[in-house]
Parts: sequence; structure tokens; C-alpha cells
Amino acid sequence: MTALYGVIGDPVAHSLSPLIHNSWLADGGFDARYEAIGIPQERLDSGLKELMDRGACGLNVTLPHKNSALRVSSERSDTAIRIGAANTLTRTGDGWYADNTDAPGFLKTLTDAGIDVAGQTVGVIGAGGSARAVVATLSDAQAEVMIFNRTGARARSLAEDFEGADWTPGGLDALLEAGSAVDFLVNTTSVGHTGGRLRLPEGDGRLYYDISYGAAAAPGFSDAKRTGWRTLDGLPMLVAQAAFSFQIWFGVMPDTSRALALCRAKLEQRT
Ligand code: ATR
Repeated sequence: MTALYGVIGDPVAHSLSPLIHNSWLADGGFDARYEAIGIPQERLDSGLKELMDRGACGLNVTLPHKNSALRVSSERSDTAIRIGAANTLTRTGDGWYADNTDAPGFLKTLTDAGIDVAGQTVGVIGAGGSARAVVATLSDAQAEVMIFNRTGARARSLAEDFEGADWTPGGLDALLEAGSAVDFLVNTTSVGHTGGRLRLPEGDGRLYYDISYGAAAAPGFSDAKRTGWRTLDGLPMLVAQAAFSFQIWFGVMPDTSRALALCRAKLEQRT
């Protein structure tokens, strides 16, 4: 029987994960398919039960389920526990094993960009769930992290949880001054999704990495380029976290460059 994999979330219809995973499944000749499966916030338990009854073998997890998916799983990786969220579930008999591949995915994109973060000072913008995965990864990789966030209390609380992490009071305006001292910036906020803009200091050729992509990231990138920043969007991270999930499920690391090209082409069609 064709094995079922998929991504659960709400909304999930626009997810690029089916495009990515189905291309790898076809390349590898696996008898499996990967679907986008909408599950509303309050229906996670019953939704997972239904998927188990349908014989689902592995699931990616996106908003709003990343925290709850960790909670309802019977086994959890150390990385997922440390981040407090799961983006990858693997069937284990009558339960799920929760892992988080956002962390290795994020690190791979930095390595691919030729960046060794050890000893670097990294400015992280935001203090939500995405920031937590980014800060955990940077902290593990021996970077110094400076967190900037609209709500200072969240920045402080995040910084307290990770070695080498600190925060800057003054909300996002602090970026204009303190942002000058960082080696590169990572924007994890959803500010672009609601039409908001960040004010950045002069980039002087430094990297501005926004982990979102497409229309949400575009205005921020044009601002960043205008002020002298090099830019990197979140599409390579999306593909990299998918690749690590695929490796957990199928035991092979798939080709990320062709999947990335497929995603870029798909996004272009949408604009
Ligand atoms: P995610 O899991 O995607 O990180 P989240 O936990 O809701 O989502 O966090 C969203 C982040 O984007 C937070 O850092 C949030 O700032 P606050 O902690 O002050 O809420 C930030 N954010 C969202 N909209 C923003 C806006 N319009 N301006 C500035 N920051 C914003």
C-alpha cells in the first residue's frame, strides 16, 4: 500500500512541502505520497488519531500545531524538547516520535552560505516560536546572540533560556544603534506578513537573513538592500528542514538544490 506522509497545519493549502517531498519521493522511487492536511487548532488530537487510522507514517507540522505536537507525542528528541516545538512526527507503533528539523535546517543554510557562526555576534529579531529555534541553534553553535523584539519581556525571557544569548531593551528601534554591532541579522518576526517595516542601520555589506520568503519578505529585502545589506530569504531553510525530515523517514539525504529551484519557480508563478 502507498505510504502516507504529509504536513499538518491551518492554513496549509499554500504549503510548498508537498511539492518538495513528492519530488524527492518520485526521484527515489518510493511507494509513498505526501499531502497537505488542514487540521484546525482545536482538532489536533482527533486529527492525529484519524491520520494514524489512515496509516500515516510521518508528518511535518506547521502553525498552529508546533508546540502542541510536541506535547501530544509519546517520544521526543532532545532538540525538540530544547526548542519546545516539533515540526516532524514519525509513527512509532501507536504513538509519534517528535523531532525538530528547523534547527539543523537553519544551521545548514548558514553553512551553505559560507558562514561559521562560532564566535560571531548574531542579531536575532523576534522572540516567538521561530526565534526560539534560531536562538537555540545559534547558542549550540557557540554564537553570541543579541535579541531584539517589540515586546522586551519576551526577548528577556528567551535570552534567559540560552547560553550566550542576551537582549536589547528599546523595542525594535534599538536595532538602529545596537544593530551596528552585530556580524549579521536574522529576522524571525511576522512583521512582513502584516505590512509592517523594520528600520535597519547601515548594512555595510553584512547579511540580513529573513526566514520568511515570497511576498511577506519582499518589502523588507528592498529596504535592507537599499541600506547596504546582503540578503538571504527563508526558502533554503524551508527546503533544508524538509530534507532533514525526509532523511529521518527514508534514511537518505535528498537533493536540496533542485527542490529549491522548484520552489522558486512555484513562487514566481504565484506573483
Ligand atoms: P512565530 O512562531 O512565527 O515566531 P509568534 O510566536 O507569534 O510566531 O511570534 C511572532 C514574532 O513576530 C514576535 O517576536 C512578535 O513580536 P511581539 O513578541 O512583540 O509580539 C513579532 N511581530 C509580529 N508582528 C509584528 C509587528 N507588526 N511589528 C513588530 N514585531 C512583530
